[in-house]
This record gives sequence, C-alpha cells and structure tokens, in this order.
Amino acid sequence: MAPAGNLRQRAEALRREIERHNFLYYVKDAPEIGDAEYDRMFRSLLELERDHPELASPDSPTQRVGAPPLAEFAEVRHRAPMLSISNAFEEEEVRAFDRRVHEGVGAASVEYAAEPKFDGLAISLAYRDGVFVRGATRGDGTTGEDVTPNLRTVRSIPLRLPRGADTRDLEVRGEIVMFRGEFEALNERQRRAGEKEFANPRNAAAGSLRQLDSRVTAGRPLRFFAYAIGPASRGHWRTQAQTLDRLAELGFPVCPERRVVRGVEDLLEYFADVGRRRERLPYSIDGVVYKVNRLDWQERLGFVARAPRFALAHKFPAEEQATEVLGIDVQVGRTGALTPVARLKPVRVGGVTVTNATLHNEDELRRKDVWIGDTVVVRRAGDVIPEVVGVGGKGPRKPSDRFEMPRRCPVCGAPVVRLAGEAATRCTGGLSCKAQRKQTLLHFAGRRAMDIDGLGDRLVDQLVERNIVDSPADLYGLELDTLAGLERMGEKSAQNLRDSIRRSRSVPLARFVFALGIPGVGEEVARILARHFESLDAILEADWPQLAAEKDALRKQNAQRKRRGEPPLEVPLEGIGPEIMDSIRKFLHQPANRRVIRRLIDPAAGVRVERGRAAAAADSKTFVLTGTLAGMTRDDARAALEAKGHKVTGSVSKNTDYVVAGESPGAKLDAARSLGVPVLDEQQFLDLLKRL
Ligand code: IVH
Repeated sequence: MAPAGNLRQRAEALRREIERHNFLYYVKDAPEIGDAEYDRMFRSLLELERDHPELASPDSPTQRVGAPPLAEFAEVRHRAPMLSISNAFEEEEVRAFDRRVHEGVGAASVEYAAEPKFDGLAISLAYRDGVFVRGATRGDGTTGEDVTPNLRTVRSIPLRLPRGADTRDLEVRGEIVMFRGEFEALNERQRRAGEKEFANPRNAAAGSLRQLDSRVTAGRPLRFFAYAIGPASRGHWRTQAQTLDRLAELGFPVCPERRVVRGVEDLLEYFADVGRRRERLPYSIDGVVYKVNRLDWQERLGFVARAPRFALAHKFPAEEQATEVLGIDVQVGRTGALTPVARLKPVRVGGVTVTNATLHNEDELRRKDVWIGDTVVVRRAGDVIPEVVGVGGKGPRKPSDRFEMPRRCPVCGAPVVRLAGEAATRCTGGLSCKAQRKQTLLHFAGRRAMDIDGLGDRLVDQLVERNIVDSPADLYGLELDTLAGLERMGEKSAQNLRDSIRRSRSVPLARFVFALGIPGVGEEVARILARHFESLDAILEADWPQLAAEKDALRKQNAQRKRRGEPPLEVPLEGIGPEIMDSIRKFLHQPANRRVIRRLIDPAAGVRVERGRAAAAADSKTFVLTGTLAGMTRDDARAALEAKGHKVTGSVSKNTDYVVAGESPGAKLDAARSLGVPVLDEQQFLDLLKRL
C-alpha cells in the first residue's frame, strides 16, 4: 500500500485536474478531453475517497454529486441585503436615470457597465480562505435559504479559488439559470419518466435549486453567472468591470456579453443590440442591466427604498401572442369582486404557457368587446399576470357567445350587486362565501401581512372546504392532529406550520391593520393609520365621520392659507381620502369584523399587536452608527438600514431616533446620552432591524 502522504497528493492532483476540466467544459466551453476519460478520472477519485475517508474534503469535485437530503433549509441572513433594481421600459426613463446619475456624482461623463438581465434566480456565494463555504438564495432580500449542498453540485461554481488577499473573505453574487437547450432536454427526460414538466427555464432552475435532496439537483443542468460582489468584499477593486474581470480570472463564469459604455446613447444602443441577439443567446434574459462603473460613485449614489440609485434594469417590452377564447369564467376575490377571466387555447407567451388571462371587469370586457370564440391578443411581462390586450379577429359570435355577468355568485349563490360609480360587480355573501373566506385567509397569512409561512392555496382550500377554519382567528386554535390530518401534510410540516402560526402572533400594528383586508387599505394606508393612531384600540374607537370633517375643514383652511402665502397646517392622515375613510368606517362598524378582531387579540388566540410609533413598521427612522460592530461593517449596517428606507446620518441631534454603539464608540455616544437618544448595542440593533 502506498504511504498516506502519496495518496493525499494523488487525491489532490486528481481534484485539481477534474476541476480544471470542469472549468474548461462549463465555463470556457472548450473541453480538452472526452466524457469517458473524465468519468475515469472521476471514478478514481471517488474510489480513493471511499477507501480513505480521511482524504475526503468539502471542496472535492466528488461533492458535486449531492449530499443526503435535508429536512428543511436553514435561514441565512445576508451580510448586506440583496436588493432589487428599478425597472425601466421606456427610453425616456433611461435618459432620466442617466441625468440623475450625472447630477448625483457631479461629473460630465459617466461610464456604465452593461450586461444582460438574466431570467433566473439570484444567489450569494461565500468563500473563506478561498474555499466555498456557503451559498444562499436571495429570499426576501434580507434572509435567504441555505442551499450550499445544492450549489456544490453546480459544475460552473468553483469550489476552491486561488489564494489571494481578495479570496480570504469573498462574497460573490450572481444568477442561477438553465440554458434553453438543456431545459428542453430536461423536460424531455421528465416527460419520458412520467414526471412533471417545467413551464420555463426559470421555473426549472428554481425548482432544481430548491430541492431538499441535493442529489436531485446534481442531475439538473444548472449554470451560474457572477455579476457582483457583496458589499463587504469591496475595497479590492475600483470598478464593476475590473471586479468582473477578476472574478473571471478566479474561475467564475461571467457574461461574455458584458460591455463598458459611456453616455446614454451608448446604453440605448447596447440595449437594441442585445435585443436583436436575444433569441440567439443560450439563456433567457428579460432586459439589460446598467450599473455605474466606478464603485466609489456607486457608493456615493446610494439607495432609494429597496433599490440602488446606481443601477437600472432596462426591460424588453412585454411579449404578445394571439389565441382563441374557449370560454369566460368568473372568479371571486377577497372583497367579493367578480372578475371575468378568459379561458384560452394554451399559447406560449414570454416563455410560459398561458391558459387564462384576466379581463378585469365587465366594463373592460365590453370596451374590448371580447366574445367566446374570438381570437384575442394576450400579453405577459415577466412575473406579471397575463392580460387580454384586445380582439384580433371575431369568432362566429352566436348569442350564447356573449358574456353575461351572473346574477348570483358562482361560488356561494348569493345575489351580486354593482354599486353606482364602481367598476366591480360584487358577491354579497361576505364571509359566508367560501371564495371570499379563502382569499381573506390567504391575504391575512401573506408575507407582507401576518407572514404565516407555509399557509398556501392548497391548505387554505382544504381548511375552508372542510369547515375547519371560518375566520383568521380560527388559525390560532388549530390543533396539531387536525393539521396532520390534511392532505399532503406530514407530521413535520404540520409542526412547522403550527410554529409559523405561533410566530406570527407578535406583529407590528401596521401589518396587523393591513392583514385585516379592509377594502382600500393597502400597506401604505395601513402604515399611515399606524403612525397616526399608534394603537389598535385607538383605531377601533376612532370617530371616522368626525375625522373626515376635520380633515375637510383643514384642507379648506390650507387652501386659504396658501392664497395668503402662509405655511399650511398639518392635515392628519394625509394620503387617506374620504372613500377609504368611509370604507374603514364601514368595515369596523360590522359586528362580524369586530368579533374577528376581538377574537384575534383575545389571549386564547394570543395575537399581540405592537403599540407605539415603532408600530408603524416602515416608519423611516434616523440612525447614527458609532464604534466597531463585530458581525458587520458599518457600511453593511448602513446598507441594511437604507435598504429598508431608514436614514443614517453622521451626527447625533434631537432628530436622531437611535444610536448604534459598537466596540470603542466615539463622542457620539456621549452626545446620545446627553440628548436622551436611545442607544442600542449590536444585538439590540440586530433585533430591531428584523422588526423594522
Ligand atoms: S445586479 C445592486 N445584474 O435582477 C444590483 N442583477 O432586480 C444587484 N439580475 O434579483 C443586482 N441579471 O437576480 C444584476 N446582470 C445582472 C442581473 C441581475 C439578473 C436580477 C437579480 C436580482 C434582480 C434585481
């Protein structure tokens, strides 16, 4: 038997050689050896590691075949949020972006790094001392899922990097995609095996990446493109283009279509050029992305809301296709609105097969004059719901082909009404209508409402159909046995669901108000209400007609003051008009609704609605950071706050909401103390950040 040292060297040599061929094949698209030879090498390494487990290593290419399945994905908090980018469809919007950038950096000429916008999934890869240690999905931008074993199976993701100052602690961000040809082949295999086919490459990529069993992922043709580095890894490079060149040098696939261009005309030309070649690219894209090339300028431009000011996604126009209307169905929404939906002869639009398209309401349907049997043009852009644009050709149009709004709700049979001045026809069944009950529950459980993870369509269907749950309050009394008895529910998922229901019990006022589903009360209105009233009781006790009258009077006064050149008086609940006020009043006036609210906050259900100004959830706060944080840099902390719409300033004043003090804080801490500004330590800050 060979000495251990030799075996280690041999394993190491095989690993390097195999990874080199992976790189040549998957990244360079220029293989030097055939499949058989590759397989031989791979098997040798597998055997070597099997016979000598002490030689195994997490960055070995053998790890790319997948690991035993997980029970669930762990959550990963991103070191800095993974943001979205503002969209533009029109040339004018691109020009406006370019003007804002010029103003922001105060330069006469600005360089941009441009590249395609991949239609895949954003991920983040972490390397420590050159070794791939963790990969996560974007998730909601703040927290994603740990999909490390799955990402190890993606051949174009390097498991090990050359050692260097910049690879000691590196976060690479990019997109997981599936090439169109490989997607078609996968669907063919799925079809033959009698398995479910995927709607499009994006769905196939997402479904493959989010497999608990990474051995399944290993059999799926996933690809990766790197397009950025995490904010904490900056500092080594000056520009976006340099960053990508360096990533390419380190073995990451970067997009060969990337260009550096100067000025807005060149951006538009790049857009047109990529648009022309779009169909010939092996992967799906839905536009191009422009980023200010200089990283210091990116920093200077900063962020608005959840998107950076230094980047823009210029999207291709929505795709349109013609198809036949097979029928017109009616769907009942959360507030009882009846929506006519065209049932279509299946047609491919924008990469997915469309079988339904909304016709919005009766007036829209009449305006477009859609009849059953007509040929219509259907449009779909990205994730947007497909809609009927108009009629392309009339069908035979027998009298029975004309759509009539039903007189009774197709779900519960209650009479429908259409109020004067309203576009919607509504079911009058209220919560006795199963359709309305289901939608109410789905809205209540939604991510932006109570955020009950795992309570989706299918479960809500069963809970309502079997009369297990009538109102949101019933969710909090669900027994484990009841949940485990539902279709497609194991004991583990029943437990998970019950846990997420429990977790949802502590909720900021704004979210709770939004979750109630009061017609007209979206997130923004809910925040305004929370900011103004600061407690649920105050909202329940408000005198709405009185408030409306006050607002009206103040507005009239302000009109006079304006004429006299005087500053306006503050109007309460600015942004909430009389119709919404009336809708809130009506909702809260109904005994059934008040009963649900009372039951929710009753100790038996146990929902605790947070009071106070902080309850406004997205109320913008002003922070000052001082000292060194252990888990993140100050820039990370700033990015995390700004991404949530909060401000970070350099000095403490009476307008500062919080001072975050790390190790060895400066004079700002003293200033905070003397002004009575709350001081948070790192842990308190992280806790608060979760709730902001
Ligand atoms: S850059 C700060 N580049 O677009 C900017 N994003 O709206 C960070 N995306 O979820 C992103 N292709 O998945 C960037 N070439 C590209 C991209 C790209 C696709 C996606 C990304 C993200 C979304 C942002």
